[in-house]
Amino acid sequence: KRLILIGPPGSGKGTQSPIIKDDYCLCHLATGDMLRAAFLQRLLSGLKLKRLWIRIADMGELVSDDLVVGIIDEAMKKPSCQKGFILDGFPRTVVQAEKLDEMLKNQGAKVDKVLNFAIDDAILEERITGRWIHPSSGRTYHTKFAPPKTPGVDDVTGEPLIQRKDDTAAVLKSRLEAFHKQTEPVIGYYSQKGIVANLQAEKPPKEVTVEVQKVLSS
Ligand code: AP5
Ligand code: ZN
Repeated sequence: KRLILIGPPGSGKGTQSPIIKDDYCLCHLATGDMLRAAFLQRLLSGLKLKRLWIRIADMGELVSDDLVVGIIDEAMKKPSCQKGFILDGFPRTVVQAEKLDEMLKNQGAKVDKVLNFAIDDAILEERITGRWIHPSSGRTYHTKFAPPKTPGVDDVTGEPLIQRKDDTAAVLKSRLEAFHKQTEPVIGYYSQKGIVANLQAEKPPKEVTVEVQKVLSS
C-alpha cells in the first residue's frame, strides 16, 4: 500500500505511523524526522543549514518544495520502499503533491489512500508542549497522555529524551498557519481523486489505531 498521512502538528501522525508500518511492512518516510536527522548529522552545510535551521526551529515555516521533494525522491528508491510506504508530513503543498504524482507515475504506481487526521486546533497546544522524543529512534512520549516509565528517559534504551525546539505554543501558531494555508489544499487535491479517509484524531491513540485499521482493511 502507498499511504499518505496528513494532519496538523500534534495530530498523531508520528504516533500511528510505527503501528501501521509494523502491521503492513511498509517503509515510513517522515520528512520532518529526516530534516531533523540531517541537521543533527550536519548533512546540510553552511548557509543553507543555518537558514533552514532558523526557519524550522524558530519560525515553524515550511522548507522549500525542492529540498523535500529531493529527499523523498532519494528515499523512495530504497528497496524497502518498493512494495509500499507511509509518507508522514509529505506532501504538504499542492506543488509537492503534483511532484509526487509525477514520481509515482514514472514507476507505474499511485497513491492508494490519504489518511486525514482531523482534529480541532484547540487540542493541539497541550499535545505539542507535553511531547518528549527519543531522537535516534523517533519514539514519542507525552508527559500526560503517553508518559515514559521514568520521566525524561527512553523506555527501551534508557537514553535521555528531548523536546523539539519548535514545540512551543508560539511556534505552534505559525506551524498551524502554514498547515491551514499550504497543507489543507492538499486534502482537497486528493479528495477530488476520491482517496481521502477522515479520522477522528482527537480520540485516544488506541481508538485512532482501530479507525486506521478499519480504513486500511476496507
Ligand atoms: P514535522 O516533524 O512533520 O512536524 P508536524 O507536521 O508539525 O507534525 P508533528 O510531528 O508535530 O505532529 P505528529 O502528528 O507527528 O504528532 P505526534 O504523533 O508526535 O515537521 C517539522 C518541520 O519540518 C515543519 O514545520 C517544516 O518546517 C519542516 N517540514 C517537514 N516536512 C516538510 C514538507 N513536506 N515541506 C516543507 N517543510 C517540511 O503527537 C504529538 C504528541 O501528542 C505526542 O506527545 C504524542 O504522544 C501525543 N499524542 C499523539 N496521539 C495522541 C492521541 N490520540 N491522544 C493524546 N495524545 C496523543
Ligand atoms: Zn511527527
